[in-house]
Amino acid sequence: MIKKKHIVFLTGAGMSAESGISTFRDSNGLWENHAIEDVATFEAFERDKELVLEFYNARRKQLFEVEPNEGHNLIAGLEQDYQVSIITQNVDDLHERAGNKSILHLHGELRKVRSTVDERLVYYWEKDVNVGDKCEKKSQLRPHIVWFGEAVPAMNEAIEIVNSAEIVVVIGTSLQVYPAASLMDYAQPSAKIFYIDPKPSISSSGTVTVLSLTASEGMRELIENYL
Ligand code: APR
Repeated sequence: MIKKKHIVFLTGAGMSAESGISTFRDSNGLWENHAIEDVATFEAFERDKELVLEFYNARRKQLFEVEPNEGHNLIAGLEQDYQVSIITQNVDDLHERAGNKSILHLHGELRKVRSTVDERLVYYWEKDVNVGDKCEKKSQLRPHIVWFGEAVPAMNEAIEIVNSAEIVVVIGTSLQVYPAASLMDYAQPSAKIFYIDPKPSISSSGTVTVLSLTASEGMRELIENYL
């Protein structure tokens, strides 16, 4: 049997933009009318639990109103001919719903919550989280989201995945948030790297081909002309 090529996708907020989910940095640094620091840090959560829980409750509810877009579906279609791994900064579940099998969420998942005293206590959660909802150790539940200033526990696994790729495709990320933005650097020198983004933050170079297109346009172009 011929071994399938390993293609790894690194996706950011732009991947889900065509599904109707706002990116973080496209609208004056505000995310759904909030400064990121007011809703996406542990300090913000300690200061105003209701505001932060409400913010993520709204994001979780939105998941029921959106669908994977053509870009997600084209990635899922590649499972037939490639070994496909996805490493996403997104907390939505659109890659799962498009049908991909191997998805690593670097920054957590909206459909999970966790304990505030023991980060190993993670629960599936589809409804709202309210002040007073507790884990089995009686601590307040919080969104299962990696906030600014927090460690990214999946980073080592992500590095290994990128390191074993023959093709790396980066889609819809401003490459501003570390350590996620450094993942491309772990690709083998022989790997082909593509970066799909309508406002790319780097230019094409020896190893990187930049496609200044949206996620769905870029995926079409990639499949037709580069894979
Ligand atoms: N298709 C592809 N890319 C798009 C589209 C589209 N239709 N629309 C916008 N983009 C691009 C923008 O040009 C930008 O480069 O998506 C990128 C979004 O960048 P950010 O908003 O910074 O999102 P991201 O890079 O995923 O942010 C990283 O920051 O707030 C934190 O933890 C959060 O995971 C997030 C991290």
